[in-house]
Amino acid sequence: MTSSDHDALSKPSQFLVDNLDLLPVGKALDIAMGAGRNALFLAAHGFTVEGVDYSADSVNQALKIAHEKGLPLVAFVADLEAGYQIQSDIYDLIICFNYLQRSLFPGIKAGLKIGGLVVYETFTVDQVMFGRPRNPEFLLKHNELLDIFRDFRTLFYREEIVDNRKAVASLIAQKVK
Ligand SMILES: C[S@@+](CC[C@H](N)C(=O)[O-])C[C@H]1O[C@@H](n2cnc3c(N)ncnc32)[C@H](O)[C@@H]1O
Repeated sequence: MTSSDHDALSKPSQFLVDNLDLLPVGKALDIAMGAGRNALFLAAHGFTVEGVDYSADSVNQALKIAHEKGLPLVAFVADLEAGYQIQSDIYDLIICFNYLQRSLFPGIKAGLKIGGLVVYETFTVDQVMFGRPRNPEFLLKHNELLDIFRDFRTLFYREEIVDNRKAVASLIAQKVK
């Protein structure tokens, strides 16, 4: 593992860090949280965070760090493709980084309270220039994320190449009705 790979696993997403001031402090959900770099960052900034991932090792690692740092984190081991239900109307913030499962979008929308925000960043089809993921199932088309959240108020949207090795789309959008 290179040091930049290690940073990517342990440091919170720069997109999340850069936009912290926009986010409504409250109840947050991190979908496919991995070892919790973003969930732990939010917990350290006053959010009440829940996280979900199907890797028990990753969830346990996140819980261990939360315990060591005295951060409140509730984390579940669950397979998002096996009927995981996001509770409706309870989250002020839902985040998802580096994971695409299109069937989750209705649940993400329903899970947010009115006024709540979604922060989403994952790979686009341009990622094939750099390597994995290559499966179109896991790659956003151009404008796809923007179109999916058309019924939300878009606060930020961008498609870009990061560090010459990641092609991503990044969105912050607010549930308005
Ligand atoms: C590339 S990692 C991203 C982790 C984290 N969001 C981040 O950016 O650091 C993708 C994560 O999705 C999780 N994952 C993949 N398929 C899943 C599924 N069906 N249910 C739950 N988690 C899943 C993996 O265990 C992994 O932690």
